[in-house]
Amino acid sequence: MDNNVIKIFAPATVANIACGFDVFGLCLDNVGDEMIVKKTKKKGIHITKIVGQDLPLDSNKNVAGVAALALLAETEIDFGFEIEIYKNIKPGSGIGSSAASAAGAVFAINELLNKPFNTLELTKFAMQGEKVAGGTAHADNVAPALFGGFTLVRETNPLDVIALPSPKDLFVVILHPQVTVKTSESRAILPKEIPLTLATKQWANTGALVSALYTENYDLLSKSLVDHIVTPYRKQLIPHYEEIEAIALANKALGFGISGSGPAMFALAKGKVNALKIKNAISLAFDKTTIPYNCFISEINTTGIKIL
Ligand code: HSE
Repeated sequence: MDNNVIKIFAPATVANIACGFDVFGLCLDNVGDEMIVKKTKKKGIHITKIVGQDLPLDSNKNVAGVAALALLAETEIDFGFEIEIYKNIKPGSGIGSSAASAAGAVFAINELLNKPFNTLELTKFAMQGEKVAGGTAHADNVAPALFGGFTLVRETNPLDVIALPSPKDLFVVILHPQVTVKTSESRAILPKEIPLTLATKQWANTGALVSALYTENYDLLSKSLVDHIVTPYRKQLIPHYEEIEAIALANKALGFGISGSGPAMFALAKGKVNALKIKNAISLAFDKTTIPYNCFISEINTTGIKIL
């Protein structure tokens, strides 16, 4: 491999996973952006091409640029990088579009510099990109993109990420209605304070989910995939949320929820056969609406960003 240029696949991710608002995330394996990053004599970060979406080329306004600049600020190199971004994940979809670009940029640059930074440090740089995209430097999409698998962001300052195991038979079904829900708006509608009774239920489920992942206990996983805090507010922004949830659960989904801040929805399934059944049933229901959508199945990507 020419060590002046690298091509990578930066995967989509599902944040929150029902009960873990801003802390849980998982990495998908068949949907993502591609990026080509090259070393240049010219200092700084230059985004030279974005294909597939209309996004700013200005490095200070683009999530990949901002994340890359955060990394560069921690180095003393006298050269720079050019970035080409081939977007397959639509911004505002809920499957970590900004996170893929931010995480992809810092991963690629780190490789070209012979890996001076560890994955936790890369996550910190990528979070700066998330701040530009949604106003908050949350790590629950960038962490699974960089670490792979399931991740738990235990703390953001100082950042602490725990990589969790992925049960082997777990599949994710994503239904993405083609409407835009801005993360900033779907955060703005959330309450600033929550009742202790709801908080108690919620942290019981987050603990149970972690246990279920370690023990591959699909029944416990299913019971823990409930959100008492965020979904009740956000579901009004998601077209046909309750109807699709009911159909997914009736077709053996282990759990159902909004993917990140939406509008994409996700179901977890045990085994590919169940995942296909869910995909077919919810697609059939969504065909009856006038809203364009796409629906796909993914395994859990346990390694995260890949070098192509
Ligand atoms: N945890 C974030 C949120 C993810 O739900 O707002 C945004 O994709």
